[in-house]
Amino acid sequence: RRLATSSTSPSKILGVDYNKQLAVLDTLKKQSERPLTLTEKLLYSHLVMDGGREWDLEKIDRGKTILELRPDRIACHDATATMALLQFISAGLPRVRTPTTVHSDHLIISEKGATEDLKRASSEHAEVYDFLSSASRKYGIGFWKPGSGIIHTVIFENYGMPGGLIIGTDSHTPNAGGLGMLGIGVGGADAVDAMSGMPWELVAPKVIGVKLTGQLQGWASTKDIICKIAGILTVSGGKGSVIEFFGPGTQTLGATAMATICNMSAEIGSTSCIFPHSPSMDRYLAATKRDYVAQAANNVRDVLLTADEGSQQYYDRIIDIDLSTLEPHINGPFTPDLAHPLSQLKKSIAEEDWPIDLSHAMVGSCTNSSYEDLDKCRQLIRQAKAAGTSKFKVPFLLTPGSEQIRATAEADGILNELREAGAVVLSSSCGPCVGSWDRKDVDVKGKEKNSVISSYNRNFIGRHDSNPATHSFVTSPEMVTAFAYSGRLDFNPITDEIIGSKSSFKLEAPNAEELPRRFESGLETFQEPPADGSSFSVTVDPKSDRLQLLKPFDKWQPGSTKDMEVLIKVSGKCTTDHISPAGPWYKYRGHLENISHNMLTTATNAFLPDDPQLLGHTRNPLTEDIDVVPEVARHMQKQGVRWCIIGDNNYGEGSSREHAALEPRFLGGTAIIARSFARIHETNLKKQGMLPLTFDDLADYDRIADGDRISLIGVEEGELQPGKCVTMRVASKDGSTWETQLNHSFHQGQLAWLRAGSALNYIKTKTIG
Ligand code: F3S
Repeated sequence: RRLATSSTSPSKILGVDYNKQLAVLDTLKKQSERPLTLTEKLLYSHLVMDGGREWDLEKIDRGKTILELRPDRIACHDATATMALLQFISAGLPRVRTPTTVHSDHLIISEKGATEDLKRASSEHAEVYDFLSSASRKYGIGFWKPGSGIIHTVIFENYGMPGGLIIGTDSHTPNAGGLGMLGIGVGGADAVDAMSGMPWELVAPKVIGVKLTGQLQGWASTKDIICKIAGILTVSGGKGSVIEFFGPGTQTLGATAMATICNMSAEIGSTSCIFPHSPSMDRYLAATKRDYVAQAANNVRDVLLTADEGSQQYYDRIIDIDLSTLEPHINGPFTPDLAHPLSQLKKSIAEEDWPIDLSHAMVGSCTNSSYEDLDKCRQLIRQAKAAGTSKFKVPFLLTPGSEQIRATAEADGILNELREAGAVVLSSSCGPCVGSWDRKDVDVKGKEKNSVISSYNRNFIGRHDSNPATHSFVTSPEMVTAFAYSGRLDFNPITDEIIGSKSSFKLEAPNAEELPRRFESGLETFQEPPADGSSFSVTVDPKSDRLQLLKPFDKWQPGSTKDMEVLIKVSGKCTTDHISPAGPWYKYRGHLENISHNMLTTATNAFLPDDPQLLGHTRNPLTEDIDVVPEVARHMQKQGVRWCIIGDNNYGEGSSREHAALEPRFLGGTAIIARSFARIHETNLKKQGMLPLTFDDLADYDRIADGDRISLIGVEEGELQPGKCVTMRVASKDGSTWETQLNHSFHQGQLAWLRAGSALNYIKTKTIG
């Protein structure tokens, strides 16, 4: 079972050490004969075994036990890396202790096309790119410059290694599961722990098994598998679980196609998503010049890269999907779990008031911008051209996933065919997927109602263009392309004809190439870290409005949860996009003071009338004026008034951005009391020294009224204990009071973060060995 190692075959490949993983599994399996799921193998083989730690398989309680893990790699993108690196700098270490890369993909604004947009980004974000580049050089981090590609695609192409464990400061890090690598999205503070060589903590996840049988037919694609699962599990149904695929259908799918599923598993709130080893992984690794990785992986395929026989009985739930009968799906608007099988879409449209005419079609994002995805678009363009129609009916935007994909698609003529059909080829970056879109075709500020269709993953309100009236639908790239010829949302390419410029015609499902004949490398966009970066320096201009060195938060102040005002009672969905919106705010991601002006500015306040103009507003309890939430928070902070936030279900779902946790802390908040939290956000809050608490009785959320003041009892040092409830006392305006119980998920180690004021404050007090 041990890998042969020689001078030409190092034990570590791309940071992954199979020998070590197998040794850990051997130790664990001595305690238990139980077959292991693939998820368990990959996670437990990364358990930290030093420092006197002992793990007993039988005692790991999924959903409860805190695992201490050592990831093989860390990745950050430019919108989260600034804050992560600012935190790493303040930890005072000379160099990262785990291989780390930074990717410049979020900040590039899409407007005119790749060349001009990249030029604009280089000048607009020069200060941030310089900071990331110089900090990467100094601290031993690989830096991918603007134009390199989207973080997850670049990882897949360069660092994807079956059996490895990567954490990334982006919720779509599970993308790596398409190559059998476990990818988990984390907040920047978690990444800083791992960069510093500290164990990284994760609650042992549950495992949801998805059995695939049959084979995809016609227009159905892997996007439809995850869109269907989103409909079944909803945006929170995967919380605390890894989605593990098994069954014969897994062996029929391409590696990048499986990555599409793993990527979008973030939309059901899951911890990660994983596929067992398959021949397509070998094909992909060979095509990307990593035969040596494929060879090494094949040596451990049965013991490490597939679930043990009989382990299915240990799945917490099983979902069956017959690929042969799967329909294409269109999900949306406003939430990715609103799943419409194509045959049902017209019916749903008839019942709703969604704009029928499409304003934009977009193919791209880390979910669907592979070579195969682009080739599918080309196949349809050729069909339309053969039928006499050479142009799309609606504006079409294309973002290749990486420079490698761009260069290959350019060399193979795909991009030219797309351009001829009317597509604008944007830079290899996130673009409209994340709101980096200088949109001119609709009146965004005037909240003009419109519909867009894309191959992206996430379609929350305002996600692409900050316009709450943009109805966004997600689907596969081939569906987007077909819809771009129809121009209408109530279209079904299986049954409907397209009215072309010369005649009407029907499109056939594309039959695209899984991989190109050969991948082109494209332009050199990688900055390798020097072996010793100590002579390099990093400077931050104190007058900068983009970057700001961090000041440590104050230690826990006894009595800080007494008589708190309720800043806002959030009603309904409140994602990290609501708490810390993106788009124009991206540029302040490295400046906590400036970005805090966006806090909760798109959230709905249950205390105010249901009026779109009042989104992000609240009543200032000190002046009775209605103002935007961050300014009210600032005012209370200046006056020394303590405050908390009341949240609804799955508060903080969506991305991993820690700004959503840093901002309330920076503006003087103490506690967030919600019906439930999304996993990453809850951890982020704890890392920043906030108190995330949940109602024991969910109905108590409804009892919180405007003007209530809240005190928490049992949160002081020595009182707050793992598993022990906190008492909330509510004082109403009329003088009456009531009490109820709140839950928390702090474990003993995390309580030290709370007392120290933040996890980072705590790290600084420890000697890192
Ligand atoms: Fe970027 Fe959109 Fe993916 S923001 S990392 S392309 S989800």
